Amino acid sequence: MIKESWKNKGYVDEVVDTDNIKEAINKLKKEKNAVILAHYYQEGEIQDIADFVGDSLALAQWAAKTDADILVMCGVHFMGETAKILCPDKKVIVPDLNAGCSLADSCPADRFARFVEEHPDHTVISYVNTSAATKAVTDVVVTSTNARQIVESFPEDEKIIFGPDRNLGNYINSVTGRNMVLWDGACHVHEQFSVEKIIELKKQYPDALVLAHPECKSVVVKLADFVGSTAALLNYAKKHDNKNYIVATESGILHEMRKQCKDKNFIPAPPEDSTCACNECNFMRLNTMAKLYNSLKYEWPLIEVDPSVAEKAINPIKRMLDISAKLGL
Ligand code: 13P
Ligand code: SF4
Repeated sequence: MIKESWKNKGYVDEVVDTDNIKEAINKLKKEKNAVILAHYYQEGEIQDIADFVGDSLALAQWAAKTDADILVMCGVHFMGETAKILCPDKKVIVPDLNAGCSLADSCPADRFARFVEEHPDHTVISYVNTSAATKAVTDVVVTSTNARQIVESFPEDEKIIFGPDRNLGNYINSVTGRNMVLWDGACHVHEQFSVEKIIELKKQYPDALVLAHPECKSVVVKLADFVGSTAALLNYAKKHDNKNYIVATESGILHEMRKQCKDKNFIPAPPEDSTCACNECNFMRLNTMAKLYNSLKYEWPLIEVDPSVAEKAINPIKRMLDISAKLGL
């Protein structure tokens, strides 16, 4: 029985009834034929208990092929929506429904639809960090892993609208020579990194390579040695011999970097305001082990997508998955 007070809160607010939460999660998972998928920005313990940890593209690809009955998406709401659209018959859970995304929120579907109408002869490319309703007015979805290649799969003179991230859009424009019309949105975490503090760190660690996510401001991207999705940043660090890396993205990725590269030193890029934990996504971090356990126990909160919206949103998502498969991504 799902309590009204939980519905108001958006998660199961109950004291955990087990001493061994890891064992209890694994037991429930088995009993219910559930899988746990986690984004690299989740707390380390959630990443460690997940069946799969990945970036936004890999999570969507995994969701599309799983035969589990329940999919627990330890990430944010748009990731749960994408999984639900791809697997309408499965139960898709995000342990805390309040796990939103400032970037997705910067692009309300009704305003984006008007923007699209104002550019009638344009192809609409949307970052996966959007609501299902925004995807429903999109021609093709991209993630930070495949955005460049998908944009380049269109003829050079194709008129393109790109939303919602102006930083990712500017970056793609700069590396492809395109002139896409950009929606003016951004992620509150990636906008925070301080160029001055990164330069100071470089003085302290002269051999350090700067790894930046393309959602960062262009001043940060310009001083980076490598720009890529969370998975690409991790792979880059694995392949290089340098000892030190300054990482300009949400600091959750450092967990997997440290796990996979035990002899290397990963330094989180500092935000402008050194008194806050602004390089942590407060939405991503709403998911906890307790909420994960309770969400599996009660099979709630469930992600629901209006079927009329899902019917439209599935096409640009599938198009992305098809192009990515052809590109071997
Ligand atoms: P990737 O998962 O594509 O690296 O994007 C990061 C992000 O901001 C997810 O919200
Ligand atoms: Fe959204 Fe930024 Fe959090 Fe990623 S880090 S989920 S883009 S708010």
